[in-house]
Parts: sequence; C-alpha cells; structure tokens
Amino acid sequence: MNPLREGLQRQRVPEPCAMVIFGASGDLAHRKLIPAIYSLAHEGSLPPYFALVAVAVSDFTTESFREDMKKAVQEFSRHRPVNEAVWNNLAAGIHYIKGDFKEDSTFQQLGVLLKKIDVERGTKGNRLFYLSTNPSLFEIIPAQLKANGLTSGVGWRRIVIEKPFGRDLATAQKLNAHLQAIFGESEIYRIDHYLGKETVQNILVLRFANGLFEPIWRNQFIDHVQITVAETLGVGSRAGYYEEAGAVRDMMQNHMMQLLALIAMETPISLKAEQIRNEKVKVLQALRPILAKDVKSSTVRGQYSRGYMDGAPVKGYREETNVSPKSVTETFSCVKLFIDSWRWSGVPFYLRHGKRLAKKGTEISIFFKRSPDILFNAADSETPVDQNVLTIRVQPDEGVSLRMEAKVPEQQLQIQSVKMDFRFGGSSPEAYERLLLDTMIGDATLFIRHDEAEQSWAFFDPILAAWREDGGRPLPQYAAGTWGPKEAEQLLTNEARKWRRL
Ligand code: BG6
Repeated sequence: MNPLREGLQRQRVPEPCAMVIFGASGDLAHRKLIPAIYSLAHEGSLPPYFALVAVAVSDFTTESFREDMKKAVQEFSRHRPVNEAVWNNLAAGIHYIKGDFKEDSTFQQLGVLLKKIDVERGTKGNRLFYLSTNPSLFEIIPAQLKANGLTSGVGWRRIVIEKPFGRDLATAQKLNAHLQAIFGESEIYRIDHYLGKETVQNILVLRFANGLFEPIWRNQFIDHVQITVAETLGVGSRAGYYEEAGAVRDMMQNHMMQLLALIAMETPISLKAEQIRNEKVKVLQALRPILAKDVKSSTVRGQYSRGYMDGAPVKGYREETNVSPKSVTETFSCVKLFIDSWRWSGVPFYLRHGKRLAKKGTEISIFFKRSPDILFNAADSETPVDQNVLTIRVQPDEGVSLRMEAKVPEQQLQIQSVKMDFRFGGSSPEAYERLLLDTMIGDATLFIRHDEAEQSWAFFDPILAAWREDGGRPLPQYAAGTWGPKEAEQLLTNEARKWRRL
C-alpha cells in the first residue's frame, strides 16, 4: 500500500454506521459498490461497527443475497482471492429486504431492521442511504424515508445520489429542491466516480504542490487544452438507459466537467470541501454559453456504425439490442468551449468523448505556446519545433508526461520531440472505495455541490436544445474502432490544431 495513503487513512477512521443501498441487486452494486466495501473491510478501513442493508425488488433472501455478493466480490474485487475471515465478518452484517420503493411497508420494515442492527452491531443510529436505483426513484425514496420517520432520530443521516443528476437544468433544480427539503446540503452526497480516481485527485497535487506549473498555468503560456475520454466498449446491455442519455448526459455534463473544473480552477484558499467546491463552481459559471447559432461550429456529435474491435466485427449502435434503428442518440460528442476568466481568456478547451473508439483512455493535455519563431521556427529554418505538451493520464497507465524538444545526438542540428514520462504505478484503490469511505467519514470534498450540477446543465442545455431542433436527421457515423466522425478532426484542423493521439 502507498505509505502516504496509509498515513492519511490512519487519521480517517469512520464512525460506526449502517449503510442502506437501494437498488442493491443492480449492476452497480454488483460490480462496484459491494466489491469496494469488501476492499475497505480487507484493508481495515470500514468503521469498527458496520452493517449493510440491501433493499431491492429482486427475489433474494438475506442468505441468497450474501452468496450472490460473495461471487461479485470474487469476480470484481481487487483483493483476490477473497479472504474467508474478512468476508464472513462482513457478510454477517449484510441483510436483504425485498420490497417496492413506493410502498410504506418497505420503509417500515427497514426502520425496524435498522433499530435491531443498532443494538446488535453497535451502529449508533448513524445511517448512510445510497440511491443506486433508476433515476425515476431519486425523489420517491427520500420522500418515503421522511414519511416513514427514517430521516430523524439519534445519529447522523447522509444520502448518496448516483448520476444522472437530472437530465437538464430544470430537472436538476427540481431534484435539488426536493432533496434539500428533506436533507441539509451537507448531508447530500452527489457522487461522480471520476472524482474518486487517484489521478484526478492528483491534478490538485500536480498543480498546487509544484512551484513549476502554477505560474505558467494561464493564457499567456497555454495555447489550448484537450480533454479526451475514449472508451472501447459499446452500449452493451444498457441501451434502455443510454438511448435516453447519450454521450453528453452520460459523460460530459458530469465526469468531464469535473475534470475541466479541476484543471481550470483558481487556487483554493484551503483544501476544505467548500473552498474547493467554490473554486470549481466559478469555472462553470465562467463558461461562455454556446449560442444556438454557434452550436454547429462548436460541437460535433456522432454515432458508431459497424466496425472492428480487436479484429472482431461489432454491431453499429442502431443495430444494438433495444436501440431504435432510427436512433439519433449520440455515442460520440465533442465540444469546443471557452472559460471567460482572466486566467483563461482566449484559450480554447476541446472536449471529446465516445464509445467504441480505437483505444480506451482518459487524458488531459495542456498544449503550451510555441517558442518564438526566431531561432528554430523561423520561416527558412530546417529545424521546426513542436509545442510542449503536458499530459495527465487519468487511466489506464496513470501518470504524467511532458513532451519537449531536444537535439538528436550526433546529428548536426536535428530536433526531435522527446517524452519525459512518469507512471504512478502500484495498485490504486478503486474510485468507489475512496468515495464510500469519504461518505462514512463525512468528507464532501470529492462530491458535487448543488450549484455545480446546475451550472453544468446550464452550459449544456442550449447545446442539447439545438441538437433536438435538428429532429430525426441521422447523425454523422464513425466505424467502431476508429477515432470518431471526420467532423471531429475537422473541428481542430480548421484551427490548425490536431487531436493528440492516445
Ligand atoms: C459511467 C457511464 O458513469 O462511466 C458509463 O455511465 C461509462 O457509460 C463509465 O462507461 C466509464 O467509467 P470508467 O471509470 O470506466 O472510465
């Protein structure tokens, strides 16, 4: 284990609590939440007195749910093989309630069970509610918790809400108002798992723990910034959700806006949650709105068609199960935006994301301005030089690299780009481990505040509206396994720039 992390965790002992996962029989709980809880148990980071109540509509008993979750841990945990003693201890505190979220009886049963658990497991009335359900239940469950007396009493209450947080500004505002009528803002944890990724947290360290970067982190020295989140996966079995969402709602409005905010924010006056969130929201407030007339020239969307991934043929998006053959849901999007602040005035930020692209990778690249066109870049020079580029690789292969120009040894004067590359190495904890622990500790630094969610929607609403205006016109297609539609390349070549190759 990373000694720095170990050191930090020793100071971060969560209080006893009972965690309640609504929608616990779903994919997220299976692949991420339960394996993360097991990892925390394995590392001794869970509260000393802990219990987990799973509430869902599926046909499990406590026994069969425990068995199913053991399989999930065996398959998805980063601590394998499963340690029987650790699992048995954790499993003894796992309970399952089968119930309909619209029925009071489900919540009454939950209330009785939680009281019993407090006595048996010493969880002291502290409750962590986790909504891992379909978003249509994000208002119903908190209302049911309140109506059935589960939001008051001894101990603390916290609620974690999964994404998507609304589907536009109006729905996000409505959801915020609804939640804030039941919980205090400090009790609401809007989760964005990208913030739990080690390298994303490292952005703050890279920027503010090094004297080198901050002075040049501004428009005087930076030409432009590229943020890419490329996935090789297609829509898989999630078409029901994805058809309604698309690339902007699924990835850009949340994960990519968070990356942007961390890269572009001003120096916070401390590392306290509120200070960091204040600075992030200012970036979002300073985004220059993209007007309807500019949507075409500042954005690109696309849809994958048939192609090859790792040499094997794959379907086009419109041929996937549960996708309409006339679908106009984007599986690729790219946006050019500006932050109208003193620091970033005139610096374009290019964001792109797509499914079924050529390679999986999330990275942020800062392209610095070229050296003056005098010695090496002069018009008649035979030794043109490239820009310096600082790349933060969020995943996979987490690290940072810096592209520099250097003389080729022994040649008279030939210049070539070289890369200084640093890999973080080691086995990073899963994003959900860090974030779940933070919710138990009560640290909201890596969670999204109400105004961040709203500001981000305020930026994307006009783009989505302009796309809607286009009606059912087919989207630009790109073959699966390529880098997206040619329009995305064009967006940059029009400005004499190029996407960085991952
Ligand atoms: C989720 C999206 O939030 O993030 C998925 O809903 C996407 O569509 C996933 O595949 C990507 O997460 P990661 O951690 O694999 O980059």
